[in-house]
Amino acid sequence: MSLDKSYKLVPGTTIFDAEQSAKGYHLNQFCMSLMTAENRERYLADERAYLDAWPLREEQKRALLDRDLNAAMREGGNIYFLAKWGATLGLSFQQMAGSMTGMTEQEYRDMMAGGGRSIEGNRIDHAVLEAAHADPTPPTEHAVVTAAVFTSHVPAIGAAIDHHRTDEPYWQPVFDGYAFSKQWEQENLPDVVFLVYNDHATTFDLSLIPTFVLGTGAAYPTADEGYGPRPVPGIEGDPDLAAHIAHSLIRDDFDLTLVNEMTVDHGLTVPLSLMFGDVGTWPCKVIPFHVNVVQYPVPSGERCFNLGRALRRAIESYDRPLKVQVWGTGGMSHQLQGPRAGLINRAWDNAFLDRLVDDPAGLAQLPHLDYVEQAGSEGIELVMWLIARGAMSDIDGDGAVEVEHRFYHVPASNTAVGHLILQNQPRAEAPAEEE
Ligand code: DHB
Ligand code: FE
Repeated sequence: MSLDKSYKLVPGTTIFDAEQSAKGYHLNQFCMSLMTAENRERYLADERAYLDAWPLREEQKRALLDRDLNAAMREGGNIYFLAKWGATLGLSFQQMAGSMTGMTEQEYRDMMAGGGRSIEGNRIDHAVLEAAHADPTPPTEHAVVTAAVFTSHVPAIGAAIDHHRTDEPYWQPVFDGYAFSKQWEQENLPDVVFLVYNDHATTFDLSLIPTFVLGTGAAYPTADEGYGPRPVPGIEGDPDLAAHIAHSLIRDDFDLTLVNEMTVDHGLTVPLSLMFGDVGTWPCKVIPFHVNVVQYPVPSGERCFNLGRALRRAIESYDRPLKVQVWGTGGMSHQLQGPRAGLINRAWDNAFLDRLVDDPAGLAQLPHLDYVEQAGSEGIELVMWLIARGAMSDIDGDGAVEVEHRFYHVPASNTAVGHLILQNQPRAEAPAEEE
């Protein structure tokens, strides 16, 4: 099923959606650069030279040099961004809007003074709308969630890998627990990993605290968390699939923050190292998905679980035959602060793993207080695992999952390491419909 974009049928109107945003990314970011007096001066001194310093398509530069705002809109421009460019040239919103109508400035001003443009003759052509809504042909192929991977993301594990200390007696049992996983991952390589993690005061400091962040950008470098960036590759995103997921999840009432540029910290890179090993480039694309578990209130287990369910609908309505794994990271029990630091609750962790497999909907009802009391203040990271679990095909009754691997070990730094691989069993083909 393709997503409803009937907003494209409104006449004389461009809706600024993820597709337009991707098309106009640098054009709009160029406009933002005009928010300093110094840059405006440089722009006005030599427009062409200034534009040439930006990675813009020639059509985009032409649109601006020709003062052709309809062309700029077609090229992905958004009016609020373009207004910064307009202001630099001394244009008001009314002059800019009027310039796109084919009217003279005076005619447009007169029309507005006379009550504005009438809705009559400016509605959607209903024949076209009905045709667009008429039974769409189902796509012949679509993306599939193949498996879920759950793992702790302790930074010290990354440091042990980076400093070649994985054979030391302290670390060996941890890495032994991932030997199967690395092999399994190679044999079941997806096209895309949708990686649920939390940023740890790396990209999102207290100036911005979004609850759910979807990475819709093309690439994300490895963050410097204070000891230099880990010597691992940055990740390549999948902007097209991510834009599709954004559209589907937001339409399903999950209010996401979309991020095109950020760095990614240990929460994301350590799971990649554990599953893919020491590689020059990651063997598949990665869509980062950050969940705020740093400042309360944080999203509930149930909210995360339902987001996972919506995520599978989103992924499986994408009309390319991609294999997608959803990973949930963080946990298990750990407390990194206060006199109770070092808390480990093996019984609770293992019951969590049991219920994650057999009773995920029940587990999703667990209140935050249980996580914090039983698994430590940072054990709250485990709510993120419910997103990956919610995306498995048994949840809404049309599939089954198999436990491929389960591992539990104490300690890694301050943390109990938990790890689980669940694979979706291929679903039986729907019986052919009788004619
Ligand atoms: C540790 C664990 C984490 O999940 C984290 O984000 C930071 C530190 C630890 O146990 O050291
Ligand atoms: Fe963490």
